[in-house]
Amino acid sequence: MILPIYVYGQPVLRRTAEDITPDYPGLDGLIRDMFDTMLHAEGVGLAAPQVGLPIRVVVVDLDVYADEQPEFKGFRKVYINPHIIEADGKETSMEEGCLSLPGIREDVKRKDRIRVKYMDENFVTYDQVIEGYLARVMQHEFDHLDGKMFIDYISPLRRQMIKGKLNALLKGNTSCHYKVKVVK
Ligand code: NI
Repeated sequence: MILPIYVYGQPVLRRTAEDITPDYPGLDGLIRDMFDTMLHAEGVGLAAPQVGLPIRVVVVDLDVYADEQPEFKGFRKVYINPHIIEADGKETSMEEGCLSLPGIREDVKRKDRIRVKYMDENFVTYDQVIEGYLARVMQHEFDHLDGKMFIDYISPLRRQMIKGKLNALLKGNTSCHYKVKVVK
């Protein structure tokens, strides 16, 4: 089932999300719905707060990049209770977008190596060092679980430049092809 995506201004996007336990009701269905929703909206990542739930669940699908980066062939993963333990490596800048910020794309600086702890859909725990593009995607998505969005990192000048777009989103003016839930 395709769920509406919560857009900038929705309080759930600014909350700290909670870890869950294996008995979280309807988890398998939620994960399926999150993949359907992300695929439909043509995103590469989606965090549960973006569908209105303040819990630490993220789905990522990097298969779309498989042509340029073969290691992402069939890369579809669920991250439960993820936490970034540390971030280091060099800082790289890349343009990012977000399904909760339709129409806005900005360069964002992030570290290119992180150590992360998470569980898979079977609640098996992993403790890994991740580098490169996946490290960026994880930082973007896991930020959603801590109430952060990529626009928090841009310069005051850039923020001023997109103010009009942000205000339009707050007023519920969006023009994206997927279903959204705006602030009333
Ligand atoms: Ni996002």
